[in-house]
Amino acid sequence: MTVTTSHYSLLAVLCVVLIVLYFAKRSLDIINNPPKSKKKGYGASEDEPVPLPTPLNITPEEVKTRDDRPWRPFRWPYHQTMSIFKLDVNHWLDMDKYYYDYIKEKERVIHTYGPDNFDSLPGSEDACLELMETVKEHMLLRYPLLFTTPDNGVHVKNELTGEVLDFSEPLKENPLVYISKMAKEDFYVVRKGEDGAHRLVAAAVPFPGGSFGIKYKLGKTLDVIHTEVPYYEEKLKPSMEKWFSRMKPADLVERASWYISWDHKLLLNNVYALKEGDKVQSDILPSQFNVRVERQTLRRLPKSKAIIFTNHPVFYSIDEMKDEPLVPSLIRKIIYEAPESICKYKNFQSFRDHLLPYLNNLVDEQIKKGLITEDTPVKTMPTYPFASFLKDSDDTKGWSNPKYPVNYSKEFHKEIETAPVLERDTFARSAKVGNLIFSST
Ligand code: HEM
Repeated sequence: MTVTTSHYSLLAVLCVVLIVLYFAKRSLDIINNPPKSKKKGYGASEDEPVPLPTPLNITPEEVKTRDDRPWRPFRWPYHQTMSIFKLDVNHWLDMDKYYYDYIKEKERVIHTYGPDNFDSLPGSEDACLELMETVKEHMLLRYPLLFTTPDNGVHVKNELTGEVLDFSEPLKENPLVYISKMAKEDFYVVRKGEDGAHRLVAAAVPFPGGSFGIKYKLGKTLDVIHTEVPYYEEKLKPSMEKWFSRMKPADLVERASWYISWDHKLLLNNVYALKEGDKVQSDILPSQFNVRVERQTLRRLPKSKAIIFTNHPVFYSIDEMKDEPLVPSLIRKIIYEAPESICKYKNFQSFRDHLLPYLNNLVDEQIKKGLITEDTPVKTMPTYPFASFLKDSDDTKGWSNPKYPVNYSKEFHKEIETAPVLERDTFARSAKVGNLIFSST
């Protein structure tokens, strides 16, 4: 068949019709589903729905060997800033191989110290109930093989502990107890009062670490709570207030801070059990030193508008990070050269001279192995706040350290056996001076 001019004209008309149809359909799609604005940074719109987690089908067996994202929150230069990151809701309440130990330790703290660590004030009831429902929904949606329900959430079986939680009304226990039987995180419930100030109105905080006692913080404003925190007034407070004034339920963020101790305890670490001026015992091996990362999240509940702050401690031994370029150099720099007030707050003086030869050796080894050079600038790592191996795995497989896998469960159990004596002595000492742990009295 010969192609004539009329064929070409027909083809051209057809093309024009198709192009017109395509653009007509696109504008209809856009009207029906307007594209989300590509805002930089944070700040959801008022009507943006609160994100729900997607299922992660890990089994109780898989949890036993699972590590979550590997935190390395070391910064240099060390400025006290909010350092918050947008949080993927899937990571609001993480899951790892220490889950069972943490839940059991929560039980011990509840039974031993009760309201010292778990308490709520009148007026916080609706917020605590909403938090309980939010935690329950999160666990059921995110971990369908770890939390199961035969009756749409009235009864929920925690497949990791074997316990069935009965949510039928009236509730048998305080909502804070239910929360603590589902999640391994500490929870702080904060509300804005009529005077505009944010106050801590409920707390399920069994793992404060020892730098503060949560019973001294309940009912206090965030300003009072952070009195001891270096640079709070001049650096943190203005950004926090700005953030809280704009934070919508769909704005979830996370951050991490850290300190060092020579144990894995959750309620009270050795570094905060020392009397003021005391130093680590000379027989503690460098391999016993751990960075305790305080992984924190912030979100707002849609109904009560309460702000929920969570904290989850996780330990990384300095030893397991020894081949990660710059980690030993950063730790050495920070414990000696961070602002004096931060060194004091984290009690770096109590152990840094003891740890120095070990850190010097690790830095020399990194140079010998070609991981860094003498001239590599000591500054925040490009993969901050995570280890470089974050990119090599995913949610399903988890993030065990590929070179030096660690499980501190055994050491943790041993340490807990002797913890009550240390706790009794330290808490008795601190009770005399209120919130200050480093007391020589
Ligand atoms: C909104 C709820 C929050 C609560 C209930 C809360 C509670 C606390 C408590 C109890 C402490 C220990 C204070 C002490 O040692 O006496 C603390 C420390 C601290 N908080 Fe907050 N906080 C909240 C939000 C934030 C936010 C949004 C930031 C971000 C800038 C922040 C930054 C810090 C810092 C830097 C410290 C010192 C320990 C560290 O280095 O992490 N806090 N907070």
